[in-house]
Amino acid sequence: MSRVAPAAPVPGAVPDFAARVVAWQRHAGRHGLPWQASRDPYRVWLSEIMLQQTQVTTVLAYYARFLERFPGVAALAAAPLDDVLAAWSGLGYYSRARNLHRCAQVLMTEHAGRFPSDAEQLSTLPGIGRSTAAAIAAFCFDQRAAILDGNVKRVLTRALGFSDDLAVAAHERSLWQRACALLPQDALDMPAYTQGLMDLGATVCLVRRPNCLACPLDEVCAARRQGRPEAYPVKTRKLRRTRRENWWLWLECADGVWLQQRPSAGVWAGLWSLPMFDSEAALDAAALAMGTRAEVRPVVRHALTHFDWTLHPRRALIGSVTIAQDVPRVMGAGRWVELDALPTLGVPAPLSKLLGAASARATSAPA
Ligand code: ADE
Repeated sequence: MSRVAPAAPVPGAVPDFAARVVAWQRHAGRHGLPWQASRDPYRVWLSEIMLQQTQVTTVLAYYARFLERFPGVAALAAAPLDDVLAAWSGLGYYSRARNLHRCAQVLMTEHAGRFPSDAEQLSTLPGIGRSTAAAIAAFCFDQRAAILDGNVKRVLTRALGFSDDLAVAAHERSLWQRACALLPQDALDMPAYTQGLMDLGATVCLVRRPNCLACPLDEVCAARRQGRPEAYPVKTRKLRRTRRENWWLWLECADGVWLQQRPSAGVWAGLWSLPMFDSEAALDAAALAMGTRAEVRPVVRHALTHFDWTLHPRRALIGSVTIAQDVPRVMGAGRWVELDALPTLGVPAPLSKLLGAASARATSAPA
C-alpha cells in the first residue's frame, strides 16, 4: 500500500510571509507617493532610478520637475545629455542620469519607444539591474519577480535567519532564490508585496534599532526569535574609504566663470566643473602662464561613496580682456558660463553651492 507522505516543512520557511507583507502594506505602508499613482512604466522606472541611494524626500522635488521637462521616453531620448544632467544636478551618482538617457534612446531605437513588460527583458536595458527590473515589472505589469535591494536584503535575511556571508556571490545567489520562493502566489498581490518589502526596509526593519513591535513579521522572524536582528545581514567585505585632494582654479571675468566638461568616465563624469589640479604648484603655474594670480578661498569638503574629497578653490578675478581671451590657450577646452546659466548645465552640487554663494554675496554687496 502506498502512503502519501505529509508535505515536508521547508527548512527555514516563514509562515504566511507574503500574506503578512501584503496585508501590512495595504493598511500601514506608504501610500500617496507620486509614482504610486501610476502604472506607467516610464514614471515608475524614473522613480526607481531616482530612489537608488537617494531618500524619498529628496526625490520628490526632482521627480516632478524632471517629468515636466521630459514627459516621456521620446522627449528624454531626444534631449541633449547636458540637459538631462542639468535636471539631475544635485541628485548625485550621475551615471544614473547617463544611463537613463541611454536607456530612453535604446527604447526608441529597439523597442518602438515602449518598455518591455518582462523583468528579464527589462534587465537588459542600460542602468536597469535585476532588482529594479523586477520592481518595474511588479508595479506596472503584476509580474511575479523578486526584488532584492539593500533594504530588502535586510528584511529577508532577518526574517529567514539567513546568516551566510553576502560578500560571497554564491550566498547572494542563494538569497535571490529564497526571495523568489517567498513571492505571493497571486500575481495581483505583486504591487502591494513589492512596495511592502520596500516600506518595511525603509520604515520598520531599520539597520539600527529595528521597530519589531510594528512589524507584521514579528511573530515569524528568525532574527527576532534569536533576539539579535541587528546581526543581519552578514557581509564581511567592508568598503575601504580613501581620501583625495585637489585644487580648483576658479577663473572669473565679465563673461562668467571658466568651466570645463569632465571626462566621460570617473567621478562627476560629463558634468561641468572648474579646472582641477593635483597640486597647488601645478595650479599656480597655470595661473602664472595666463599672467594672473589666484587667491585662496575656503576649503570645500565633499563625501562620495568611496572617498572623502578635499577641494581647495583658488580664485582669480580677471579684469583684462586680453588675459580672458588667453585662457583657452592655456587651459584647453572649456567655456565661459554666466552664473545665471549654471542651473541649465550639469554642475556638481558642491560647485553650484560655491559659485551660488559667491554670486549671492556679489549681488547683495553695497554698490
Ligand atoms: N525605494 C525604491 N523604490 C521605492 C518606492 N517605489 N517607493 C519608496 N521607496 C522606494
